[in-house]
Amino acid sequence: MKKLYLQTFGCQMNERDSQEVLDMLTAQGYSLAHEPEQADVILLNTCSVREHAEDRAYGNMGKLSEMKDTRPHIVLGIIGCMAKLHQGKIFKRLPRLDLVAGPAELYDLPYLLAEVQEKRQNVNWPDTRYTRVIAVGRTHRPLEQKPAVDTRTGGVRAFVSIMEGCDKACTYCIVPKTRGQEISRPPKEIIEEISRLASVGYQEVILLGQNVNSYGKRFPDGSGYKGPLGKLKLLQEAPDDLLDFPQLLRMIVRRTPMPRIRFTTSHPIDATERLFDVMAQNEPLCEWLHLPVQSGSNRILRAMRRGYTVEAYLEKIEALKKRVPDIALSTDIIVGFPGETDADFRATMELMRTVAYDTAYIFKYSPRPGTDAALREDDIPKEVKEERNQALLAVQEELTAASLGGRLGNEAEILVEERGNLPGQWFGRTRQNQGVIFESEDDWTGRLAQVSVERLAAHTLFGSLAPARV
Ligand code: SAH
Ligand code: SF4
Ligand code: F3S
Repeated sequence: MKKLYLQTFGCQMNERDSQEVLDMLTAQGYSLAHEPEQADVILLNTCSVREHAEDRAYGNMGKLSEMKDTRPHIVLGIIGCMAKLHQGKIFKRLPRLDLVAGPAELYDLPYLLAEVQEKRQNVNWPDTRYTRVIAVGRTHRPLEQKPAVDTRTGGVRAFVSIMEGCDKACTYCIVPKTRGQEISRPPKEIIEEISRLASVGYQEVILLGQNVNSYGKRFPDGSGYKGPLGKLKLLQEAPDDLLDFPQLLRMIVRRTPMPRIRFTTSHPIDATERLFDVMAQNEPLCEWLHLPVQSGSNRILRAMRRGYTVEAYLEKIEALKKRVPDIALSTDIIVGFPGETDADFRATMELMRTVAYDTAYIFKYSPRPGTDAALREDDIPKEVKEERNQALLAVQEELTAASLGGRLGNEAEILVEERGNLPGQWFGRTRQNQGVIFESEDDWTGRLAQVSVERLAAHTLFGSLAPARV
């Protein structure tokens, strides 16, 4: 039996993609190798969002290539976003690589691997110059070729992709170039996937897309709503049969028994009051929202082409909090965008405190060749980026501690995911996505526990099972 070693970089979409690759290749008779030394095929599913992610992939694959000295038969592949972005240039840095395949060619992998083997019949092998396979030309992943097998069983939380690509044009971001135009998966397929996950015991799904809030704009058959429906006013007047994101959420709630539903990522401009209403009215939708703000300065937001102001963002948060008072908010922030002054930075810090996020992911700006922002000088020195990064991490540390602290002395519903580190411990999450540990002799995996929260240590809450209510 052939063995596959698969390493994943980047976002949750990539994690879900890797799962699909595994499913497809399992159906072809592969099994998973836990060490690269045992594998016949080694694939790195890569990310290009920051230079660091690319450097790691190049570095890792460079090392792995050395294995060909002793095991020339192995197949080495770079798949995912970096493959799409750098295409044939990757072979220059990784001459012993066999395969480069973009995100849109994911479902072709079984054929592409067969093609590598076929080419190797060629007399020149093991000289990879003659046996390389490169597949990066598609603009869209053919969603109708989605693998029929789904090997996920027995887990608690699962990712479900609802769309591919991104139609936005944030000036710093490479994703639209690596993932292409937005395409939404038909609702029927999404509902079938979630129903299947529920039937094998999953208790929570996280719906994935680069901008889930623009779901429905374009389906594989070309249908979809047209026009600037991101505008709040228009959406409030939108007809009930419009198949947009809030409507998809309603359908999932109505047609599947999934107890908990989350989704990510939401672009603030497309997160509407219609969405907040649906969140408030449907129990399975958790009180949790990742709403990346990126910066607290209007000047920088404009340069990032985010399409909203700080004031408009805060208005949305207010509208959401009015409907879902115990919402937990999370964000992404970029520090050191070209031209970011101390005043811009302080505005970001202030915004973080105003919103009081539960969680924040802080990134140092990394110029991505081919983006509009990369045309500007990357003028914020490394040390300043680092300083600003550390300062925001410290602010978030405080905010997270305060938010978790607010849980102490209260009861919370915990969905138990797995055993804790110590015997008899169980780990689960509140609806707000906060981790909680409690002790019990019973097996709580995949069950909802009512826990009294008592103690906070290192971002984890500890508690004990609340006495059963009669
Ligand atoms: N579609 C999502 C996520 C995109 S990538 C969204 O719009 O939020 C995840 C995060 O990486 C972004 O939110 C942004 O904060 C960060 N990011 C993207 N490009 C970057 C760059 N060039 N440098 C630093 N951080 C970046
Ligand atoms: Fe990138 Fe912006 Fe699209 Fe997010 S919304 S993936 S940041 S272009
Ligand atoms: Fe990275 Fe591609 Fe995701 S660039 S963040 S893996 S969409």
